[in-house]
Order: sequence, then C-alpha cells, then structure tokens
Amino acid sequence: MKNKYFSLGALAVACMMSANVAAQKATSFVVKANQPTAEIQPTMWGIFFEDINLGADGGIYAELVKNRSFEFATPMMGWKEQKKNGTTGKALVHNQEAINPSNRRFIRVESGSDEGFGLSNEGFRGMGIKKGNQYNFSVLARQPQGDNVAVVVELVNPDGKSIGSATVTPQGKQWKKYNVSFTATETEPKAYLNVWAKGKGTVDMDMISLFPQDTWKQRPNGLRADMVQLLADMKPGFFRFPGGCIVEGRTLDERFEWKKTIGPIENRELTVNRWNTEFGHRLTPDYYQSFGLGFFEYFQLSEDIGAEPLPILNCGMACQFNTGEVVPLDQLDTYIQDALDLIEFANGGVNTTWGKKRADMGHPEPFNMKFLGVGNEQWGEQYIERYKIFAKVLSEKHPEIKLITTTGPFPDGEEFDYLNTTLRGMKDTRVDIIDEHYYRAPEWFKENATRYDSYDRKGPKIFAGEYASQTVAIASPDNRNNWNAALSEAAFMTGLERNADVVVMASYAPLFAHVEGWQWTPDMIWVDNLRSFGTPNYQVQKLFSTNSGTQVVPVLLDGIAVTGQNNTFASASIDKKTNEVILKVVNTSDKEMNNEFVIDGVKKLQNRGTHTELRSDNLNQENSFENPKAVSPVQKQIQVKNNKVQLKLQPYSVNVIRVKIS
Ligand code: AHR
Repeated sequence: MKNKYFSLGALAVACMMSANVAAQKATSFVVKANQPTAEIQPTMWGIFFEDINLGADGGIYAELVKNRSFEFATPMMGWKEQKKNGTTGKALVHNQEAINPSNRRFIRVESGSDEGFGLSNEGFRGMGIKKGNQYNFSVLARQPQGDNVAVVVELVNPDGKSIGSATVTPQGKQWKKYNVSFTATETEPKAYLNVWAKGKGTVDMDMISLFPQDTWKQRPNGLRADMVQLLADMKPGFFRFPGGCIVEGRTLDERFEWKKTIGPIENRELTVNRWNTEFGHRLTPDYYQSFGLGFFEYFQLSEDIGAEPLPILNCGMACQFNTGEVVPLDQLDTYIQDALDLIEFANGGVNTTWGKKRADMGHPEPFNMKFLGVGNEQWGEQYIERYKIFAKVLSEKHPEIKLITTTGPFPDGEEFDYLNTTLRGMKDTRVDIIDEHYYRAPEWFKENATRYDSYDRKGPKIFAGEYASQTVAIASPDNRNNWNAALSEAAFMTGLERNADVVVMASYAPLFAHVEGWQWTPDMIWVDNLRSFGTPNYQVQKLFSTNSGTQVVPVLLDGIAVTGQNNTFASASIDKKTNEVILKVVNTSDKEMNNEFVIDGVKKLQNRGTHTELRSDNLNQENSFENPKAVSPVQKQIQVKNNKVQLKLQPYSVNVIRVKIS
C-alpha cells in the first residue's frame, strides 16, 4: 500500500519545473504533527567503516610504526638500517623460531660497538607527534648471545633532531615484552622512530610498536581520540564494519577472517589490504591490515559511541570486481560456522567457547549484536545460492539476528533488478533487510528523493548501506567533498526519513581518508597525522543523525510531500522523548525563500524554538584543515506564534527547526 502523501511524486516533479515562479511567493508548509506515518528506528542514521584510505592502519588505529612485525610481503618495507659514526652492524629478517605461526618473522640486529647500529621506521607517511604528550614504546625481544645490548629508541624530526628518547634492556634468550614511555619535546607531523642497538652483541626484535598515551578513553594501544570523537559526536545509530569490499578480499585467501583479528595482537595474522593495488592511479604498496583494530575493538567502539554493532561477513565469494572466486556450495561450512561463532563471540555467555574469548579480552558482558550482513556487494545467482544456505542455518539457530542481504554495487540495472526481484520473491528464505548502494551524481540524489515512496511497505526493509554524491564519476580522484555534493545528499536524506517505515538504516561511505594515503574520494572525514576535520557531507550526516526524532509526520506543500517543488525537500518528525516537532527543509535553489511553517495537530507549542542552518553561497565550498568549519551549522532562536514559524530559507541551505510541544 502506498502512503497517500507519497503517491503524488509525478506532480511533485512537475512542480519542480516551475521552481523559480513559486519561489517568489511566500510558501506555506504544513506539518501534520498528530498524523505519524512511521516509527523512525533508533538505527536510522549510522556509520560505515572500512580500512580504506588508511582508515584503520595509519588512521584511527593509533599505532605509529608501520610493518611492526616485518610481515609485509617485502619484510623491510617501512624500515631502514641506521648507523652512527660509521659503526658496523647487520640487520636481517629471520623467519625461523617464530613467536607463533601467525607471526613468523622477526629481525636480528647485530651491533658491532657502543656507537649505535640500528633501524629507523618511517611510520605511515611520517609519525604525528605532539609536544608534551607521552609515547609508549613496546617490543618483543631477546638476546640470544648474552645481555650486552641496550635498545635505545628515539623520535626524530625531519632535520634529524631527537624529540624524545628512552632505553630498554632486553635480557635472556626467551622472548619477552619490554615497555618504556617517554615524553615528546616537540610537535612534529612527520617524525620517524630510530631503534638503536647499543653495545657489542645481538638482539632479536619483533612487534616493535609506538603508541601515543593519549588515545580514545586513554585505552593502552588504542584508537586516535580525535577521530573517534568525530564519530561519537554524530550519535550514530549503528556502526557497520569491517566494510566494504575488504570483507570480500581480492581472492578468498585474502578475505577478511574475523577470527584472525581477535586475541593477543602478536597472534593476529597480517593480510594485504585489498586497496593496496586496487587503483592503478592511487597505488598504495605499503597498505596491509595488522588487525590491531580487530573485531573485539570494533564491537567495543560500537558500544563506546552508542551504536548497534553491524558486522558484515564474507559469504563464500571474493570481490567480483577482482577474481570473483567462489567457494563450492558443499564447502560453505567454514564460512557459516564463522557466522555462528561470531554470534557466540558477540552474545554468548562466558562459559561458551567464543563468549569466553570475549571475556578473556576484557568484556564478559555480551555486546548484544542484533544484525549480521551476509556478503558485501555480491551479485548474480551465485550470491542467491549461497545466501539461501546461510539464511537457512542462521534462521534456525538464531532467529533473533536480523539478516542483511545485498543487491550489489549499483542502485539500478540488470544485476540490481535480478537480486531485488529474486530476494523479494523468495518464499522459504528470510530476507529481513536489503543493503542498497548508491555512488551517484548530485542530480541523481535530488531526483531520487522519492525513490522509496513506491517501495512495498510489507516487504524487506532497506539499509542504504553506502552512498555518497560523486561530483565527477564513481571514485574519480577528482571528486570533491563540496557543498553541492552534501546539499544533494541532504535532499535525498529527507526522502529516506519520510520513508522510515521502509528505510531503517543509512550510512555515508567511505568514512575516513588520509590526505597522503587515500585511494577513493569523496570521503566523509579527512585526516593527516595530527589533525582531522569533517567535510560538509559529515556536517549533513551529523545534522540528520542528531535531529532524528522518533516518528515521521507529514510535512506538506499544497497537500503533497515536499520532494523538489520550488527546489525544496522536506521531512518532519516528532521526538517523543523530548516532546518536540523536528522539521528538516533543504533549499537547493540559489534563491532566498520566504516561508511559513504551520504546525497542525498539537494544541500548543512553546513560543520559542531553534533553527539550525547549514549553508554556503558557494556550491564548490569545501572544509579543510585551514578552514575546517567553512560549512558548519549555526543555531539561532526562532519565534513561534499561533503554531506558526516564519522563516527565510537561505539559498543552498539545510535547515533544522525544533519546537517544543508545551
Ligand atoms: O566505499 C568504498 C567501496 O565502495 C566499498 O568497499 C564497496 O563496498 C563499494 O564498492
């Protein structure tokens, strides 16, 4: 059944044509505050995370040493030998007498004198160091031939000046972990780390690591606080991890295997990052996954920021943009067992095998996982065949977990139509939520504000799992995170909210990008080694997420939903928790609009409300490290008289009006 306010989409488009004429008149929007059409799920606005663009290693995972365990394909990548005053020495990566089978290599440094022979690590495009902050160095080490060597670590700026230093003295022939902390004397975005072996002798080292003390929640060896804070500020409803195509891998051998990402970090087996060579124009040969940010940490992060954890697992298919390898249907058991074990890891009691592992990592309470994605951007019959097998087992054993299925990488076309029709037509297989992805031009987003108006209200729900306005072409390196892109996303998002009875989750993608290490653009948050800022797109996401409301109510212009008439787009909600009416109006035109908002269906409103405005006169405006708040929200008080608000909507603006019901 269609909602009566949605069925007039064609009329809305016709009205769009006469935009300029209508813009001259004062326009009256009517909010039907006592006619809720849908519950807005607390999960509605969330976050998509993937280790792309140095999102995890070199990004939110605060480890400063690259290739800390010498397991990259080129074992010395990121490392260089260092000598002082022509001293002698030797450094060689060994792969015998491994610490464990997942971490086979270590480095043996033979030093010829007290002068100092050693190594230096370049970090991920340098190391970001802050004056006065404490840095925690750790290393697994042993001295196979007597305890003659001291390990001196020092942070150095690009001019070669030491900006912090400390010493550890490994002892004995057994591997042991050594820790030391020191304070940095300068702020430096491009520092590097020297590790000197001083004294005549041999020292073996592995897991050479340096973290800032100042991490998110001050957790040892944790996450970059500034980056997590930007996520927490969004008050996200869910946190999707670990991707993205990274779930699939270029080959099945390189797929994401969650079990290899938990437990002691020295046991987490490193894998190449599939974005390493994905784009010839943005090659990143030093991009690997250390899994220091693993599944435990993803669940913990979700909990920290108040978001439902939403893991996506490989369904027995490698990325179809790469090899498209598939596991034979009769050999899917390992993959399905991974899913069952993950549910136990997240939700099982401490006396279960996997629940105990969670407890051993410091979280005896369950993480209360409620959703699970089966596959990322798969397509074709091969996906349906595999999904059916997953769904059968998971439905029998875990009917409480909502399953997320994919409709491939595009929001239309043959592959989308096949999956959409097939998934919706399956009678004996559960399809709870369908994941749709749209990387499209800004115009597409505006034209598709009505996309869900005609979706089946009784069918599966929708997860708008990855979307971003592409100003040039999909993943073009010339795409910009500009206001035009963000404004179009805001227009589209009013359509998601209006259809909250169908759309239960939405997330922008990708999330993070390092200015010197990205592969894909646009991205929501940009970082360098010390700084981070939210793009205009971030500001739009945050505005919607922090002004969600609990129930959708109609907002009408001449009796129909506002889906582009006069180049305006709108949605409205009631927040039952705060007893407010919340109205979102997007003006995508270059004209100021004189509007009246009439709030019908409530007896009395307080005579003051707030108007939050996000705008720029310049559609090409971007945020930057120099001007991170160029496009950022400004809040003002507004008057409410006789349940009406008079408001001028600025050109190119996203507006949120909140009024309390008294
Ligand atoms: O967000 C970047 C990539 O886009 C994701 O990994 C993939 O799912 C999509 O194609």
